[in-house]
Amino acid sequence: MVWCLLSQMTEVQLEMGTLHNFISIHDLVRDDIELILEQAAAMESVAIKRSKELSTKIMACLFFEASTRTRLSFESAMLKLGGSVLGFADVVVSSAGGKGETLADTIRTVERYADVIVMRHPLDGSARVAAEFSSVPIINAGSGSEEHPTQGLLDMYSIKKFKGNIDGLSVSLCGDLKYGRTVHSLGMALSHYDVKIKLAAPPTLRMKPAIVNEMKKAGMEVKEVDSVEEAMKDADVVYMTRIQKERFPDISEYDAVRGKFRISLDEVALMPEDGIILHPLPRVGEIDSEVDATPQAKYFDQVYSGVVTRMAILKMILS
Ligand code: CP
Repeated sequence: MVWCLLSQMTEVQLEMGTLHNFISIHDLVRDDIELILEQAAAMESVAIKRSKELSTKIMACLFFEASTRTRLSFESAMLKLGGSVLGFADVVVSSAGGKGETLADTIRTVERYADVIVMRHPLDGSARVAAEFSSVPIINAGSGSEEHPTQGLLDMYSIKKFKGNIDGLSVSLCGDLKYGRTVHSLGMALSHYDVKIKLAAPPTLRMKPAIVNEMKKAGMEVKEVDSVEEAMKDADVVYMTRIQKERFPDISEYDAVRGKFRISLDEVALMPEDGIILHPLPRVGEIDSEVDATPQAKYFDQVYSGVVTRMAILKMILS
């Protein structure tokens, strides 16, 4: 059971509770995921009482892309553990945006101010590049359309919390499976479990074949479908996502799929009564607001999983 570091040169035993960078779900094995989910569950009571455990530590949040949940839940997690936070939430006010500073120089500067760097960046591979230049741990808070590993873990935590277990479930990943980084991380995390997967997307937004092949290689039963109705049937978990408008090279491609995948009360009626609907949020119309009052709608409860899961990750990295 190992946590493989960015360069694959060093390994850190998770049993010892120590982590360094957190760049990709690919760096984890099932036991690592289980340990993080256990630690997150333990954080539920700590989050209420608060702790001073990280009172000597500073977390820098460098958000080169917009965020509400990821940045604020990381900040909430750090504050609940007694730590301090600094950073920027808009690249325009940083020297990277305002003066053209390189990512490498930004990281080599901020590592001198903070004990851990949480970074979101629009480019695939950016988190690994940052880790190459950093002497302090880097946590990937979303790198292009590639990955969003802490979201993947909070989604796993939510599934376990609301369904009691992960093995044996039927999970449908829906929406923008091409550009949606959350489904890439969640799909890879689920591939360590005995889960049946439906991938539901418009033809132009299907999951990349490399990820589908990786899931199949891991032994998952994977079915690709092209409608929300198919995704809802027999699903224990429906994970809906936003069409990632900002990632389309040609806006006419976005216009062609906009509004095509949508969950209304009619679609909810197709689900098992004890099924759940998750969404990483923000949503922009793909789940009707009437759905919010149904027992299946868990996406706002899912938001809180971000606090305890990120508390667990920060504690394991900084303790
Ligand atoms: N789920 C998620 O990444 O949300 P934000 O973009 O608001 O951080």
